[in-house]
Amino acid sequence: MPKSKPIVIVANRLPVQRVGDRFVESAGGLVTALVPTLKARGGAWVGWPGVSTPLRRFRFENFRVQPVHISEAEEDGFYNQFSNRTLWPLYHDAIRTPEFDHSWWRPYVVVNHRYAKAAAAVAPRNGLVWVHDYHLQLVPAMLRSMRPDVRIGFFLHVPFPPEELFAWLPWRERILEGLLGADVVGFQTQASARNFSRAAREYNLAEGTDTELAVGRRKVRVGTFPISIDFQWFAEAASKPESLREASLLKRRLGASRKILLSVDRLDYTKGIDLRLLAFEAMLKRKRVRVSECVFIQIASPSREPVHEYAQMRVRIEQLVGRINGEFSEPGRVAVHYFRRGYTREQLAAYYRAADVMIVTPLRDGMNLVAKEFVATRSDYSGVLVLSEFAGAARELRQATIVNPRNIEGMADAFETALNTSKRDARHRMAILRTIVRRHDVFEWADNFLEALAG
Ligand code: ADP
Ligand code: G6P
Repeated sequence: MPKSKPIVIVANRLPVQRVGDRFVESAGGLVTALVPTLKARGGAWVGWPGVSTPLRRFRFENFRVQPVHISEAEEDGFYNQFSNRTLWPLYHDAIRTPEFDHSWWRPYVVVNHRYAKAAAAVAPRNGLVWVHDYHLQLVPAMLRSMRPDVRIGFFLHVPFPPEELFAWLPWRERILEGLLGADVVGFQTQASARNFSRAAREYNLAEGTDTELAVGRRKVRVGTFPISIDFQWFAEAASKPESLREASLLKRRLGASRKILLSVDRLDYTKGIDLRLLAFEAMLKRKRVRVSECVFIQIASPSREPVHEYAQMRVRIEQLVGRINGEFSEPGRVAVHYFRRGYTREQLAAYYRAADVMIVTPLRDGMNLVAKEFVATRSDYSGVLVLSEFAGAARELRQATIVNPRNIEGMADAFETALNTSKRDARHRMAILRTIVRRHDVFEWADNFLEALAG
């Protein structure tokens, strides 16, 4: 059975971080998904510790942690520039113009090679290696040339772009060859899987169907594996007396009769934070809902700050928050609360529980776990989810109120309707949403992928 086989995870970041003189598990979706699997099977995690001082390999619980050293100059070329200024915007519908700079490609190749070498060194004979995300798309082929005995899986957490956009990339064939080195290539949605298969055929690197490609005599399976969350954890955390106390304290402090609209994101231009603020402003301008009746909370965790486009988005958001509050806030009744900081998962669970309307409106998102986390916390079946049609999650969470994040007036309508949704209607929709997320949790996701990989 695949469950018994050790695995090697290769991901940009390690699942642990240094706190004082010891290592603790970091927060985040991938860690939640894979650390329990790794603990059960044993194996290794290859990744970047996020610091430029070299670290030796060590054991954590019952798996091995294999740090990959990246110098500061490489971090800039590989991570800030090529990963986050070329690939990230290109793969998210070119929401920001991707930059194609040949001096960034070299560090991308060099660092990918280092990850492949580290994986080759720790993978057991005939073992399973699972590579993650857009930072490491060359690793599958590199690893195959070093270790033809291992089974290699690759999962892309972000969207794979349509042909017309992917064609912009000067290194498009190299990226495809890298990915086609895997035995299984997984995506969040069918659209992404199809885009990839079509690109592979378009550039004559593979033949076959949207779900099974042939590269020479070798088969590459292309599949859809929508990632999820630890439903049980969020459901239980949000129902604990401390969380319920925290949530009702928050409601009291904001004004017990006011309905809470909540958004939680990394501060990223793909998340559509500015457009949803404009939609909230448009709703207030209509004067059918007043700040005495509602409040908008935007939680945004700082992210990729050295990248110019991120710094620019922060300024834009902060200006908009200032403008809206200047116009609409009243003494003791602030229209928009903006918290630019990270929270613990427990704290987030209490915020989710306090919200009446959860607004998740990215311009493009591979999946969006926040939407699923919100659903999991609503064990009282209350609350309305407003969800962008451009989030992978919209393919599954069809009972949400689906919106086009570029339609400001349409979003303002959706917010108003959400605030006025009857308890009965909300309950009906939440029951279906919860069933979907409960059934398809992150452990099922990992099992499905690993089963496909084990062949
Ligand atoms: P992305 O992977 O693009 O950041 P997701 O919504 O899929 O978007 O995942 C974001 C994850 O980060 C979620 O698990 C969410 O709980 C967490 N997160 C988002 N904002 C914060 C924050 N301010 N503090 C702590 N965790 C956060
Ligand atoms: C997205 C990416 C992940 C990444 C995460 C946080 O979810 O798909 O690979 O780890 O954002 O971004 P960061 O740049 O801080 O790792």
